[in-house]
Amino acid sequence: MVQFSLPANSKIGPGKTHKAPAGAKRVKTFAVYRYDPDSGENPRVDKYEIDLDDCGPMVLDAIIKIKNEVDSGLTFRRSCREGICGSCAMNIDGQNTLACLKPIEDIKGEVKIYPLPSMPVVKDLVPDLTMPYAQLASIEPWLQTETPLPPDTEQRQSPEDRAKLDGLWECILCFCCQTSCPSYWWNGDRYLGPAVLLQAARWIHDSRDDHTGERLDALEDPFKLYRCHTIMNCTTTCPKGLNPAKAIASIKEKMAERRL
Ligand code: SF4
Ligand code: SF4
Ligand code: FES
Repeated sequence: MVQFSLPANSKIGPGKTHKAPAGAKRVKTFAVYRYDPDSGENPRVDKYEIDLDDCGPMVLDAIIKIKNEVDSGLTFRRSCREGICGSCAMNIDGQNTLACLKPIEDIKGEVKIYPLPSMPVVKDLVPDLTMPYAQLASIEPWLQTETPLPPDTEQRQSPEDRAKLDGLWECILCFCCQTSCPSYWWNGDRYLGPAVLLQAARWIHDSRDDHTGERLDALEDPFKLYRCHTIMNCTTTCPKGLNPAKAIASIKEKMAERRL
């Protein structure tokens, strides 16, 4: 398991403990990072004792229960509750993952919940993702074609060409990989990071796209692509089982091929 350090603004102050209701038999403690930058106070870790007999099975179920029944101020993102939208990404039990896909019973002892590491914190479990989204926009993640489109059919692709996108199109942009990458921690303003590079690969390998050369030109830079040192945290942590490190290697291969 990859253990992460706390967010940068992490001088932790004393937290509060919310006790389990009387008579609760299967009590689990959730230790949750709390920080409101507007308050002027230090971050803290609050503890919530939850009766698992009265809670859904996933970590997100517990977080929603805490917000609904114990502490309405707790702030987090979520939408689909089934691993599709990517918005509930956070650091749980030392690993970046999706709260809606993480079973509580997989975690021994206290459940430690922090925001995705290395990003500024908007509030509590909500990281500021402005930078990775700007980086995503920079790779122009849409089909760019000069070939006239067929007037009355879709733009076809052979099964073999379509198969080249497997392992890429499934990315839900949760940024678990991006924020687990030490190279991104150190050079996040210049290195594009694994999630964004996986998206770049998704368009570079699309047989229908006519701008492969321009896309590779845009990555020909000492930082944007080549700061990946194959540390593999990204692949270890991806909750969708994707392999961003392999996608990055495939871009490097394309770069090498065109130099031959
Ligand atoms: S393989 Fe590359 S992108 Fe993935 S964690 Fe390592 S340095 Fe970051
Ligand atoms: S590659 Fe995996 S971890 Fe990275 S953004 Fe996509 S789904 Fe999330
Ligand atoms: S809530 Fe959508 S991925 Fe978890």
